[in-house]
Amino acid sequence: MASIPRQWVTFAGRRVNAAAEGPPEPGAEPLWPEDTRLRVSRGRMAGERAVVVGAGGISGAWFPPLKAEGVNIMAVVDLDIDAARRRIAEFELAARPSSDLAGTLSELQPDFVVDLTVPEAHCAVTCTALEAGCHVIGEKPMAASMDEARQMVAASERTGRLYMVSQSRRWSAMHYLVRDVARSGEIGDITTMNCDFYIGAHFGGFRDDMPSPLVLDMSIHHFDLVRFFSGTDPVAVYAKEFDPKGSWYKGDVAASCIFEMSGGVVFTYRGSWCAEGCHTSWNGDWRLVGDRGTVIFEKDRPPYGQTLAGDTGFHRPLRDVAVPHPQPRAEGMHGGLLEMLDYLREGTVPQTECHDNIRSLAMVFAAIESAKLGQRVAIAS
Ligand SMILES: NC(=O)c1ccc[n+]([C@@H]2O[C@H](COP(=O)([O-])OP(=O)(O)OC[C@H]3O[C@@H](n4cnc5c(N)ncnc54)[C@H](O)[C@@H]3O)[C@@H](O)[C@H]2O)c1
Repeated sequence: MASIPRQWVTFAGRRVNAAAEGPPEPGAEPLWPEDTRLRVSRGRMAGERAVVVGAGGISGAWFPPLKAEGVNIMAVVDLDIDAARRRIAEFELAARPSSDLAGTLSELQPDFVVDLTVPEAHCAVTCTALEAGCHVIGEKPMAASMDEARQMVAASERTGRLYMVSQSRRWSAMHYLVRDVARSGEIGDITTMNCDFYIGAHFGGFRDDMPSPLVLDMSIHHFDLVRFFSGTDPVAVYAKEFDPKGSWYKGDVAASCIFEMSGGVVFTYRGSWCAEGCHTSWNGDWRLVGDRGTVIFEKDRPPYGQTLAGDTGFHRPLRDVAVPHPQPRAEGMHGGLLEMLDYLREGTVPQTECHDNIRSLAMVFAAIESAKLGQRVAIAS
């Protein structure tokens, strides 16, 4: 579980008592004292009620896990109400279609909102939902700017409602392996991390015209993964964005970034969405170096590595690292949804709660700023 910033501990770290049965623990506060909508049974909430906002492409990946977990999808809201109607029919939902978010939330008072709108709408949709008293799980990237992201975090604090980002690539069996072997002590303390991402991607849509398509739309996943793998946070970045010869994108679709991470760790990121041939994995190909060994993770194959087995010789003797076998309970969006349900049922703060996820977003905007300025940019903690 990611570390929780102090301000969030003040907000949610109080001793809570979410169990409905038995006497409350002495001194414990109810989870949400003013919230009579929580229906808790045997320590678990039954049939949580949700409103889904945004019925576009990615919603097709959300309705199956929501249904599988028994979530009561009360409404699907989209500016285009026909899109909402189509998704309701396609997934056979007993939900109402709507194009009026505020009215729908006021009337239905769901437990949480799933924000699947475009990045430019995330701030308005999520803040509306938080102010209406709902918890929110929203698609990445958190926001279209750091100012908006800060507004969202402030709204979560002000309203006392949880906002988490679904950073879906975290919930992957292979990525849990990398995290656990990197942090197991087998390779000592991590000093250096590299990620290469090279894919020739012909989307033919909005990405062809947007500025910084790689860093804004894709690298957020890799920047979040480096924090997940290593447990470090960004300190500063020097970045160069560019549009290589032959590119079919208008914006800069390639980047080389050197991040200074906490603990003196250096993370070098090289990526391009217009690199034909010899593609890397969509998750990137990784090298994590510690002061006693190295772990490699490439082409989505299980990670492997070597660590010191002796202290003499030009090349020190090495042995293979032991790779543990942790498993997330579910992959992708389903894994994120389970963390939201854990929060509603038990008060466990999700690893991508907004105070944590804003640090991954900060890497994106600092890299873009550094490339514009041509200089190193510090990243506020
Ligand atoms: N995790 C992943 O791997 C992954 C993959 C694809 C997309 N995404 C993310 O999911 C989000 C949505 O992507 P998409 O591909 O579904 O986009 P999309 O354009 O297909 O769908 C977005 C939908 O949101 C609706 N919408 C926009 N503003 C709205 C508002 N203010 N209120 C209500 N509805 C609104 C639009 O009408 C549209 O139907 C983006 O943030 C994207 O980055 C994540």
